[in-house]
Amino acid sequence: MRGNAVVVGSTNGIGKAIACRLARDGFNIVAVGRDKPGRREELLSHLAACSQSDGARHEFRPCDAFSLAQVKACAEGVASDYAREGIDALVLTQGMATIQGFTPTSEEGNDEKKLTLHLWSRIAMANCLLPALRESKCMRGGPVVLSVLSGGVHGPYAKYKTDPELKNNYSIKAAADFAGFYNDLVLDRMAEKNPSINFVHASPGFVASNWGTEMPTYLRYPIRFMQRFAMSTDKCAGNMVKPILQCADGDIGLSTPDGSHGLFIMREKANSGTLTKGHSDDAIDSAWKATQDVLNRSGMELE
Ligand SMILES: NC(=O)c1ccc[n+]([C@@H]2O[C@H](COP(=O)([O-])OP(=O)(O)OC[C@H]3O[C@@H](n4cnc5c(N)ncnc54)[C@H](OP(=O)(O)O)[C@@H]3O)[C@@H](O)[C@H]2O)c1
Repeated sequence: MRGNAVVVGSTNGIGKAIACRLARDGFNIVAVGRDKPGRREELLSHLAACSQSDGARHEFRPCDAFSLAQVKACAEGVASDYAREGIDALVLTQGMATIQGFTPTSEEGNDEKKLTLHLWSRIAMANCLLPALRESKCMRGGPVVLSVLSGGVHGPYAKYKTDPELKNNYSIKAAADFAGFYNDLVLDRMAEKNPSINFVHASPGFVASNWGTEMPTYLRYPIRFMQRFAMSTDKCAGNMVKPILQCADGDIGLSTPDGSHGLFIMREKANSGTLTKGHSDDAIDSAWKATQDVLNRSGMELE
């Protein structure tokens, strides 16, 4: 099997370990992430070392996911280049732990640090790649979109009607719940509209990654200390790739929260998780509309 996997946020942490694990299992990797000097060469030689057979085709595509314009350009490039060959897995891990408040992007005016990175950029990427995912040829159980964030562990965001883009009630907790809740809601609607594609929102558990690098020193040191007891990125990646490898063989190995078609929630040991109590058709409609508005402002249409 030689499928194609796009891994966003593959330059570090969980995303880098997932990219390596998928390369080891025979996938060609389209590694997407922020560029810096020497990074492309380092990442591609790392992925080549992860691959266990000759003939793997890995590439690096620079993209700063704080900018929806960059996400759009990158996703459209990948979608066009893989339109016929297809994409078998899309993994979204771009993330950052900060205690920064609402930080609008210069281009779009959306909150960049939490909402663009953890939500809007992920939906934009998945949306642009839907046609290429439908062309997947290597997955007996269908292609997989995997968003690694907070599936099953975040709270609901109650003000989705009155403040649908979290512009007036911003706090660190509200932003974390908002990003997780909207990942559930929007991916669930995408699952409904695209029954041939499997959508998974996962929580990775507590993982010894670079997570926390942007935190102030008084928080970063305790995080680094506690990470001594955390799961390794390799172990986490082994759990996170299970639905992808299982779909390659036939069955995703997860069940949806209500047993019918829809979004899969996955916990850190690759076991099925649950949705929040706030998950409803009304909330899905509202989150879908808000996402449509945000993407429209950047020249994108939700399919
Ligand atoms: N680690 C944990 O314990 C934990 C727990 C729960 C949830 N999570 C979630 O899991 C996901 C992965 O976290 P992690 O632990 O792997 O964190 P990490 O080690 O800090 O890695 C984050 C990745 O996201 C990339 N990224 C950050 N900003 C970006 C941007 N503007 N554009 C493109 N890529 C960007 C980073 O790129 P650079 O290399 O350029 O920095 C890096 O590749 C995150 O969403 C995080 O919230 C992690």
